[in-house]
Amino acid sequence: MLINGRHYRTIWLAEDKKTVEIIDQRFLPFEFIIEKINSSTEMAIAIKDMHLRGAPLIGAAAAYGMYLATLEAINNKNEQHIKNCSILLENTRPTAVNLKWALNRVNAELEKVSSIEEKISTAYKLAELIADEDAETCRMIGVNGVSLIEEIYEKNGRRPVQILTHCNAGSLACVDFGTATSPIYEAAKRKIPIHVWVDETRPRNQGKLTSWELEQNKIPNTVICDNTGGYLMMKGMVDFVIVGTDRVTRNGDVANKIGTYLKALAANDNNIPFYVALPSSTIDFNMESGDMIPIEERTQDEVLTVDGLCKDKIEQVRLFSYYAKAANYGFDITPARLVTGFITEKGICKPQELLNFFD
Ligand code: MRU
Repeated sequence: MLINGRHYRTIWLAEDKKTVEIIDQRFLPFEFIIEKINSSTEMAIAIKDMHLRGAPLIGAAAAYGMYLATLEAINNKNEQHIKNCSILLENTRPTAVNLKWALNRVNAELEKVSSIEEKISTAYKLAELIADEDAETCRMIGVNGVSLIEEIYEKNGRRPVQILTHCNAGSLACVDFGTATSPIYEAAKRKIPIHVWVDETRPRNQGKLTSWELEQNKIPNTVICDNTGGYLMMKGMVDFVIVGTDRVTRNGDVANKIGTYLKALAANDNNIPFYVALPSSTIDFNMESGDMIPIEERTQDEVLTVDGLCKDKIEQVRLFSYYAKAANYGFDITPARLVTGFITEKGICKPQELLNFFD
C-alpha cells in the first residue's frame, strides 16, 4: 500500500528481530504512527483494542504474537508461557476466524519441535510466511476479481464503474492490497475508471480508513453515511458492491462488519451484484452456518462517543446523554442467498460451490 508515496505493509518485524512494528490505525487518517510491539501481551492488547484490525491482519498479528511468546519463553525458561500466550491471543476477538486459523497453524508446527531454540525459529519462519502469503493471496484476489469490474465497464459503455464498499477491507485490514480493495487497485492499474462509495461504518467509522487509503492510492471516492447506500442503489448510482468478511461458513453465510447485511438486502432488491472478497483463511470449514458464528459485542462507548479532529488535536466527544444506553454488535450475518459470489485467491465461485472449490 502506498502511504505518502512510499510502500508499506501493515505489520513487519523490526530490524532487531525482537519486536514487531505495526501501523497504529487508531490515529488514522490524522496521524501516521508506527507502534512498536515489544511482547505477546502488547500484541494481544493491540488486537483487542484495535490498534490493528481486519480479519487477515488479525491472523498475521497473532502469528507474530506467538513468535514474541517464544522469545519470552527462552528468557523466562517457561515453555508453558507459549501455550498461555496462545490462549491470550485467541481470546482477543471472537468473530474473525483468521485469528484461530493462524494460531492453529503456528501451534501445530511448534508441537513438532522440542527445544525452545527450535520453537523460536519455527515461529519466526511461520509468522513471516503467514504475512508473505497474506500479501500474495490478497494480490491474487485483485487479479481474479478485476474481470468483474472489466465486464461492468464494457457493459456500461465504458463509463466509470461505481463501486460501494462497507467497513475497511483494504490494505489496512490485511498485510497488503486488501481483499475488497484489491480488485479496485488492479482495475486502477489497468486504467479502468472507478469511483468508490465508502460507507462511514459506524460506530468506529472504519470508512475513514478506507477513504484515506483510497485517497493515498489515488482512487476517487466519496464517503456516505451508513443509511445512504440503499438510495444510491435505487437511483442506479451503484454498479457493484464488494465487501470483505471475517468468517464464511460451509454453507456460504458471511459474517462481516455490522451493516453489511442491510447493504446485501438493498443490492438484492435492486439487482446489483454483491460480491464478498476473501482469502481462504477466512473460511471456517468446521462451521456449518452463520447462526453459529460468535458475534463480538464491544463497549457502549464506541456508540455513545465519537473521535475526531478538533483544532489539530484528536478529541473524543459524547453524542448522547450521560444516561443513554447503547448496544454495540460488531458484526452481522449475510445469508448465502444474498451473495452473488466469492472472490478468492483461487478464483471466483458461487456460495453453493465454495466447498468443492476449495476441496
Ligand atoms: O472490527 P473490524 O474493523 O476488525 O472489522 C473488520 C471487517 O469487518 C472487515 O470488513 C473484514 O475483516 C474484512 S477485512 C479484509
